[in-house]
Amino acid sequence: MLFLDLIAKKRDGGRHTPQELEAVARAAADGSVPDYQLSAWLMAALCRGLNEAETAALTRAMARSGETLGLGRLGRPKADKHSTGGVGDGVSLALAPLAAACGLAVPMMSGRGLGHTGGTLDKLESIPGFQVRLGLPRIRSQMKRLGVCLFGQSADLAPADRALYALRDATATVPARPLIVASILSKKAAEELDALVLDVKVGSGAIFRDAASARELARALIKTAKSLGMPTVAVLTAMEQPLGRYVGNALEVRQALEILNGVGDAPDYLDCTLALGGWMLKLAGLATSAERGADMMRARIADRSGLRIFRDIVKAQGGDARVVDEPDRLPKARRSRALAAPRDGFITRLDARGVGRAGIFLGAGRENKDSVLDYGAGLVLAKKVGDRVRRGETVAVLHAADAARLEAGAREYRAALTIGPRAPRRAPTVLEVLR
Ligand code: URA
Repeated sequence: MLFLDLIAKKRDGGRHTPQELEAVARAAADGSVPDYQLSAWLMAALCRGLNEAETAALTRAMARSGETLGLGRLGRPKADKHSTGGVGDGVSLALAPLAAACGLAVPMMSGRGLGHTGGTLDKLESIPGFQVRLGLPRIRSQMKRLGVCLFGQSADLAPADRALYALRDATATVPARPLIVASILSKKAAEELDALVLDVKVGSGAIFRDAASARELARALIKTAKSLGMPTVAVLTAMEQPLGRYVGNALEVRQALEILNGVGDAPDYLDCTLALGGWMLKLAGLATSAERGADMMRARIADRSGLRIFRDIVKAQGGDARVVDEPDRLPKARRSRALAAPRDGFITRLDARGVGRAGIFLGAGRENKDSVLDYGAGLVLAKKVGDRVRRGETVAVLHAADAARLEAGAREYRAALTIGPRAPRRAPTVLEVLR
């Protein structure tokens, strides 16, 4: 069959056979079909959709487009979490070592920042020397030794997703539910997990802003994961404002270190970490309930064993482990600027997408594929939604390389901020759990 026929079939609303979807995944992985034809098929799939059977078949085909991690039995259950993406969402950095400290094996395949959302790999690479491009033998040996590894997708693991994702990012086809499901789960299937927890973000900074669409995505993810035999839970969490106090790569490493040390003031970040970790432990059979699992995670914060494992990960992956005890060694932007509240009142809105865009202007995110990140750039959010402010009081401190970037970031931040006369209702971070 010609690839042109596959494009025409989907364009006209036809249903693909599993063999046809194998052909799409193979073409993406081996580069045998030009980008413009793959892009046309992606747009047809976005407009016409894929049904449940097609979504499962595409996910399987993408998972089989490369190798699996092949970790075998590690003596502990393998669990991972995946977030659909947010602003200030560096939860993986604290969660992975804490989950490992609780007895899970955590092979965490992570991604880079996309648009206004940050990526775990970029955050890790802000630690001087930290390596995320690891070959399979190295991942396997670290998993055996430490029980946890944070790494990027390689040419070996779900290569069809790598190729398709890059095209989706450049062709406005990211928000297609079946394509998101296949993208996320093909990577996770390659990890051969015993438990998967999905953090499906809801709000202005998420792929889907409204709860109904996010819930539909969560249901589709669970259905397809089950058809692949992967025990999965989806936790819907708030992404109306950024998570935690920091937005930016090195700044979010700092946030994770505060969480692992049990200090700082980021209750939303902590709630999210504990809820996701609690479900990982419950689903993998190490805790009798998600609440009990969250208690286990809390204990690993209190005894600093999560922090110890984070230090081991940094050392094992070539990073400067001194940053763990001396975060001032992390990269810093050349300039900073404090922004003051223009009036008295309460913060009623701090739009996550707007703050994420401010991060891009400051140099913490990519404007295009070739942008070079400034690891020290970003925002420290002194005030968040619900906080009372006085006119002139600092609401945020911006970090960037120069005055022009600071000005552009300040403009975006101000547009994202609303101060009103009355305190808004406090919204929970964990909204719903779907199984
Ligand atoms: N995260 C992924 O890995 N893939 C998507 O398509 C969306 C979010």
